[in-house]
Amino acid sequence: MKNEDRYSLILGIESSCDETAAAVVKDGRQVLSNVISSQVPTHTIYGGVVPEIASRQHIEAIDGVILKALQDAKVTFDDIDAIAVTEGPGLVGALLVGVSEAKGLAYSLKKPLLGVHHLKGHIAANYITDPSWEPPFLCLVVSGGHTDLVYIRDYENYEILGRTRDDAAGEAFDKVARAIGLGYPGGPKVQKAAEAGDPEAISFPRPCIEEEGYDFSFSGLKSAVLNYLNQERMMGHEISQEDVAASFQAAVVEVLVTKTMQAAKKYRVKRIAIAGGVSANKPLREGLREACRKKKIDFCCPEFILCTDNAAMIASAAYYSYHRGESSPLDLNADPGLTL
Ligand code: KG4
Ligand code: ZN
Repeated sequence: MKNEDRYSLILGIESSCDETAAAVVKDGRQVLSNVISSQVPTHTIYGGVVPEIASRQHIEAIDGVILKALQDAKVTFDDIDAIAVTEGPGLVGALLVGVSEAKGLAYSLKKPLLGVHHLKGHIAANYITDPSWEPPFLCLVVSGGHTDLVYIRDYENYEILGRTRDDAAGEAFDKVARAIGLGYPGGPKVQKAAEAGDPEAISFPRPCIEEEGYDFSFSGLKSAVLNYLNQERMMGHEISQEDVAASFQAAVVEVLVTKTMQAAKKYRVKRIAIAGGVSANKPLREGLREACRKKKIDFCCPEFILCTDNAAMIASAAYYSYHRGESSPLDLNADPGLTL
């Protein structure tokens, strides 16, 4: 049976990494509530996400986060049509908390359960930001675990044109931040430091930029930064955190923008979107916006709060499968390596 009779309210749940999140979204595009309980202060002490601690904190937070999402949306469980949850990829213990909670709710409330791929969620953040945004489009997905160029033909059909061969862009930001003493979370701190630095101070490599195809590689760039830091320290030179941050960020942004535009040309796309935590990076957003403007390509990027992990994007992504009458079985399992 297709679910077409009236508007739909989907409760989204997200717990794949270090944010416990729940949201209520109407008809896939209108956010009625979006509650995010961040674990950043806890993990900052350790310089990165500690999976065991993340799982435990999700367990402590999840009931309260869901109730707050219902309260903020001014609805009750009875009003909800379906429960959507991130089933993967992510940290297995963290994912299991959300998946178990969603299964319990779906079973007891007798509502359909919808398992959602985390990256489809990130991509769907664009549908919320621009309610007129629809496939087909090219999307640069850049998060802590992924760097993929995805062609979205329609709501069901995702083709990966290129991906990173090693580190993800967000991972490179996090590792470089640690190396220059900025700590976790790396991306926003590198961006902030870079504002006071010179992007041309150090000439870091632009990996894969001259190569055919749409794959990325960031581990060589990260090593180049580490080598530079070692050399400078050995020579007793003072290191400018700001210049390293700005030069590294400029290299990442140039590679991401160039590869995306190369793919856009080859596939003759008319619309480009961006998704994932690194899409919050201002120079990247502006770089891609400008490149699209020059080529008269429509550009969409999620508003900042929807770039990093949240549950509104999960509820939005689930809407299209819900509408087709699909649902997941109640023995749905967390899948840390789920592919698109
Ligand atoms: O999508 P996300 O919240 O979680 C994953 O699914 O991985 O992405 C987190 C990543 C982290 O690596 C973080 O450093 C990066 O996104 N990030 C940024 C910025 N904000 C978050 N990277 C660069 N600039 C930012 N402003
Ligand atoms: Zn994410």
